Amino acid sequence: MVVVSNRGPLSFSLSDDGALQTRRGGGGLVSALGPALAGTGAMWIAAALSEADRKAAAAGVVEAEGFRLRSLVVDPDAYQAYYHVISSGALWFVHHRLYDTARRPRIDRHWRQAWDRYREVNVAFARAVAEEATDGALVLVQDYHLSLVGGELAAKRPDLTTVHFHHTPFGGPDDLRILPEDVAVELLEGLAASAACGFQAPRWAAAFEASCSELLGRTCPTFVSPAAVELADIAGVAASPACADALVALERRIGDRRLIVRVDRIELSKNLLRGFHAFEELLRIRPEWRERVVFAACVYPSREGLPEYLAYRQETEGLIQRINQTWGTPGWTPILYDATDDFPRSVAALRRYDALLVNPVRDGLNLVAKEGPSVNERDGVVLLSRESGAWAELSGAAVGLNPFDVGATAEAMHAALTMGDDERRAHAAAVRALAGARTPTDWLADQLRAGDTDTSA
Ligand code: G6P
Repeated sequence: MVVVSNRGPLSFSLSDDGALQTRRGGGGLVSALGPALAGTGAMWIAAALSEADRKAAAAGVVEAEGFRLRSLVVDPDAYQAYYHVISSGALWFVHHRLYDTARRPRIDRHWRQAWDRYREVNVAFARAVAEEATDGALVLVQDYHLSLVGGELAAKRPDLTTVHFHHTPFGGPDDLRILPEDVAVELLEGLAASAACGFQAPRWAAAFEASCSELLGRTCPTFVSPAAVELADIAGVAASPACADALVALERRIGDRRLIVRVDRIELSKNLLRGFHAFEELLRIRPEWRERVVFAACVYPSREGLPEYLAYRQETEGLIQRINQTWGTPGWTPILYDATDDFPRSVAALRRYDALLVNPVRDGLNLVAKEGPSVNERDGVVLLSRESGAWAELSGAAVGLNPFDVGATAEAMHAALTMGDDERRAHAAAVRALAGARTPTDWLADQLRAGDTDTSA
C-alpha cells in the first residue's frame, strides 16, 4: 500500500551538528491519518517542505514513528505555484466557498501558469508513486493538492488501484463554475480516474457526484468515511505534565468563571470573526455574563504566505483588542487569545470548557468537535456549525448553529451556559458517544474496502 499526501507524517529538523532529527508532524490531515497508518508498513510519499526535509529526501526512505516515508523534492518555484496559488489559493477557496467574488479570483496568465505547475507537481508525485508501488498495489491519494494523481497513475500504471480521499468539502457545479471549464474538467477527470473517491460527509460526496455529472457527463464510485480521533492519543496528551501545567495556568486566569473555548487554525473558513462578534453580542444583551465568562481562543497561524490569511489574522486580532478594551475591567479580560501552536495547551482548554464553539462557515469534518467531548471534564456543551461535516455525525446531540447568524450564536452561548446540570450531563454523554463511535482503524478499513475492486465492482 502506498499513501500519498502533500504534507507528510514526519517533520524533520537539523540539530546543531547537522544531524537529522525526526518527530511526528502536525496538521489536520496527519492527525486524522497518522493513527490509522502508523505501524501498517505502508509507504508514505509526501513533499519535502523544509531544508531538513530535503536532507531527509536525500537519505532515501526514512523509517520512524511507525512510518516509512519517502520525501519528494519539488522545484521551489513550482511548489510555490502548486501549493500557494492553486491548492491553498484556489482549490481550497472553491471547495470552501471563500472567494470574495467581487475581487477574486483573477484568472489571468499567471494563474494559468500556476495551473500548469500544479499539473507538473501532480505528475511528479505520480512518478514517485509509480517508482515505489509494487505490482497491483493499492494507492491512497489524499486531498485537493493531488487531484490529478489518480488520472496520471491510471495512464502510467493501470495495474495499481487508486482511492482518492478528499478531507475538505467539495464544491458543487455552481462552485466549480468559477474555474475555467477546461480546468474544472481536468480536475474532475483526475479524481474520477480513481477506483473510488471518499469524503468526510454525504453532502460533499453528493456535490462531487453532481459536479461530475454536469461537467463530465459521468461520475465514479464514491464513499463516505468520516475521520476519527484516536482516543488513546488524546487521552495521553490530556494526562501529560505539559497539559496539567497549562490547565493550572488557565485556571489561574479564569478562576471560577464560565469558559467558552475554541481551538482552530487561523483560517478563513473557521469563522473566527463571527465567533467573537457573537461573544460580544452575548455581553451586550446578557449583562449578567459580564465578568462571569471568559472566551479562550487557542489558535495557531497557518498559510501566512497568502495575503488573505495575514489580513484575516490582523482583523481578528484587532477585533479581539477592541472587544477587550470595550468590555474588560481591571480584574477581567473577556477574550484570552493565544496564537501559539501548543497542543497540550489546547487540550487543557478542551478539558475545562463549559461551551465549545465550533462554527466554521464550511468544513470537511472538524476534528476538534470530536476531540473536545472526548477529553472535557465539565459536561460542556458543544455548539456546532451545521455547515461542518461533523454535523452529519453529531447532529443527534450537539447544539446546531447557523454560522452566519451572530445573534443566534450569542443566544446559543447563553443557552449553553445556563443549561441545567442534568441536561448538560445527558448532552455531554450523548456527544461523547457519537464522537467516539468510529476509530481511525474504521477509517482505514473504509479506504481498503473502497479499493477492493473485486467487491466494489
Ligand atoms: C487542513 C485540512 C486538510 C488539509 C490541510 C492542509 O488540515 O483539514 O484537508 O490537507 O489543512 O493544510 P496545510 O497547512 O498543509 O496547507
